[in-house]
Amino acid sequence: MWVDQMENEQELMRIGVSLPDNLLTRFDDILAKRGYSSRSEGIRDAIRSYIRYYEWTSEVKGSRVGVISLTYNHNQRGLVDELANIQHKHLDVIRSSLHMHVDAELCMEVIMLQGDVSEVKLVAEGLMALKGVQHLKLTTISVEE
Ligand code: NI
Repeated sequence: MWVDQMENEQELMRIGVSLPDNLLTRFDDILAKRGYSSRSEGIRDAIRSYIRYYEWTSEVKGSRVGVISLTYNHNQRGLVDELANIQHKHLDVIRSSLHMHVDAELCMEVIMLQGDVSEVKLVAEGLMALKGVQHLKLTTISVEE
């Protein structure tokens, strides 16, 4: 099912969203550079991309190799332990990881995985849900013929 088709001739709903000031400033900068006429149109496009990405990752099945890259603030209380706990619970799909200290607070981690994509996604979603994780991206590649 395509998002655009479902949207056709739909009534517009108004929502109120609370955002940190710097997040909105960065978003507005991008909208200005890309020539959007309104913030609402930019937000609609951003939500469409988010839904497409989610649907795409939901449709992927079978055995994959993948990479999870994430950044986080290592001063966030309990976060380092939580990150380690999740990874130790999924030893059967986690093959390797690489850690980089970006600055005084920020860390970047790259985790390489192999196995059924449902478990790979479980690891990514578990990490993404942790407070203090700022960005997380999962990419996978099929290893089946
Ligand atoms: Ni670090």
